[in-house]
This record gives sequence, structure tokens and C-alpha cells, in this order.
Amino acid sequence: MERRPASSTEARKSRHLDICLDEDVASTLDAGFSVVRLRHEALPEMALTEVNARTSFLGRELRAPLLVSSMTGGTARAGAINRNLAAAAERAGIAIGLGSQRAALEDRALLETYRVRDVAPHVLLFANIGAVQLNYGVTAADAKAIVESIGADGLYLHFNPLQEALQPGGDTNFSGLLEKIAQVVAATTVPVIAKSVGSGISVHTARRLLGAGVAAIDVAGAGGTSWARVEGRRAGDSRRERLAETFAGWGYPTAEATRALRKALPGVPLVASGGVRSGIDVAKAVALGATLCGLAQPLLEPATRSADAVFEALDDLIAGLRIAMFASGCRALADLPGALLETAE
Ligand SMILES: Cc1cc2nc3c(=O)[nH]c(=O)nc-3n(C[C@H](O)[C@H](O)[C@H](O)COP(=O)(O)O)c2cc1C
Repeated sequence: MERRPASSTEARKSRHLDICLDEDVASTLDAGFSVVRLRHEALPEMALTEVNARTSFLGRELRAPLLVSSMTGGTARAGAINRNLAAAAERAGIAIGLGSQRAALEDRALLETYRVRDVAPHVLLFANIGAVQLNYGVTAADAKAIVESIGADGLYLHFNPLQEALQPGGDTNFSGLLEKIAQVVAATTVPVIAKSVGSGISVHTARRLLGAGVAAIDVAGAGGTSWARVEGRRAGDSRRERLAETFAGWGYPTAEATRALRKALPGVPLVASGGVRSGIDVAKAVALGATLCGLAQPLLEPATRSADAVFEALDDLIAGLRIAMFASGCRALADLPGALLETAE
């Protein structure tokens, strides 16, 4: 494909990293986990070591229901971050999605910044591209190529109309995409997953995406990183920033969206992400119906340091999840929905 200069995409990606590392860009909505309560079991009748947090997602076994959510790629710094994230995910036995590969479609030299198979040969790995790019020159064959070029096991398509609308020169033509998504599904031999970027996905939209052949839905709901706020900070123009800030509380909170999607779509693989911040949040999300939970921003700073730092953060999350399961009397993840104390919705 031949589109805008790669350097503009590169500069944008680098600025996103700085903003997400240094500034407060959290949604003004709560992800909703604080009002979800799990049973406390004073007599769990098992040893903590008996807790089993293993699961499977899209046919692959994972040691815990966790995913490093899509973040970056396209610059040397992003390449180092991706390798640290992937090596840690491999060691923890969880899944990872890379950031949008649009930069690598614009400039093939940037492909290296997404290649992680040498440090993570077995990890469940997802490629990523913005769905709207299918209206801006990216073809179903390109989508297939970005999966194959990094040896990915699946493809994430992200849906970010709010982010594009708040970006100067954003790609805002989202018309006719469903048919193109079906073409991507037909062209790729791996599962395609649809995700938001911090605003959530409604039941109605999830049904349309599943109808186009998507294999799983990642809520990527509100309550964590707000992409409206990130784009506002990046604008460098006070009018635009004010406009973006009015959307700081936009979207479906993650817990709410997860519950609604699970209720409406019982068998569909579902990822809860957006504002997941602890092992307890992971336990609550699984209780609400998530198959996996994804985190992005909390893993970014450790990823700028080392794979060990990311692994430590993941290990703490898994420890928190296991203790939450133990203290609510849940031996396996499948027991968690039964430990939910009903709250007013
Ligand atoms: C620095 C950064 C870059 C991101 N880039 C992408 C991206 O390229 N593609 C995508 O689908 N999501 C991207 N996201 C969104 C995340 O995958 C996730 O949906 C969102 O940040 C909410 O999760 P969180 O609250 O744990 O950060 C990015 C997030 C961060 C923090």
C-alpha cells in the first residue's frame, strides 16, 4: 500500500507512548469493578496451591486468563517495548497483542519492530490493524500479510471512531466496513478478533461483527486509558484539547459491557479490557463472563525497563487472581461466576 508518509505515523506513535507514560489520560468513568463484589469464603476447604487459573482461548492453553493488550510498534523504542512485553508474556504463559501494524504497511523496514518470535516462540500472539484502514487503502491481502509477517496466531481489528474523530486529519470514514471485515475474515486463516480502544462494544455491534465472521470480541471498555484524552494532549491546540476532554467520560464501562455481552452471547470468546488494574479485577471480570482479561497502560512503564519488570507485574496480577479465587472458594475459573454477589446494575 502507498499512503501517508510513514514518518508521520512514527511520530504519532512515539508521542502516544510519551503521553501514556507521563500524563493523566485515565477515563473519568470508573471501569465498574469497584461495585462488583465476590463472596468471601472463610472456609475454602482447599489449599491455595490447588487453585487452578489455567484456561484456553481460541483453542490455545494459557496459564492464566491474561492478555497484554495491543500497544505499540513502528519505532526502535516501540520495538524494544514489544520484545520485553512478548518475552514476559511467553514466560508467564499468557497471550499478547501487538500495536497497530499500519506503520509497517507504510514502510516495510519497520516490520522488525513487531517481530518478537525469536524471544517468544510459543506465545499466543495477535497482529493488529485499525478496521477503518480498510477504507484507506489497506486490503484483505494486507491484513493477511501483517499476520504472516510476524507469525501471529490471530488478528485484532480495532474500532476507534472517537479517536479518529478527535485527531487532526483522522481517518473518519467508517462506512461500508462490515463487508470488508468479512473479506478479511475470508482471506486470513487465523481467528479475527474485534476490539474497541477504551470505549467498549455494545451487544448490537458485537452481533454485527460476529455476523461478519469475527471469532471473538474484546470489550476494551471505558474506565482505563481514554483515547479521547490521549488525542487531546497530542493536539497541542487548546480548543481541540477542550473538545477532546468533553469525551473523557465517553463509552461503556468495562464491567458493565462485559456483563451485558456475556448475557447476550453465551458461547462467544470474550476479552475484558480497559481499566483492569489488579488480580481482583481479573477475578471479577471472569466472574462477569470474561474468557480473558487484557491490560495495556499498566504494563507500558515496566516494558520500558525490561522483560523481567513486565514479568514481575504479570506475576503479581496472577498472584492476586489466585488469592481472590482462594478467598472466594473458587478452585477453577469456571467457579467464579458462582461467587458473584449480585449488585444493583
Ligand atoms: C501506549 C498505548 C498504545 C496503544 N495502541 C493501540 C493500538 O495500536 N491498537 C489497539 O488496538 N489498541 C491500542 N491501545 C489501546 C489498548 O489496547 C487498550 O484497549 C486500552 O488502552 C485500554 O486498556 P488499559 O486501560 O489497560 O490501558 C493502546 C494503548 C496504549 C496505552
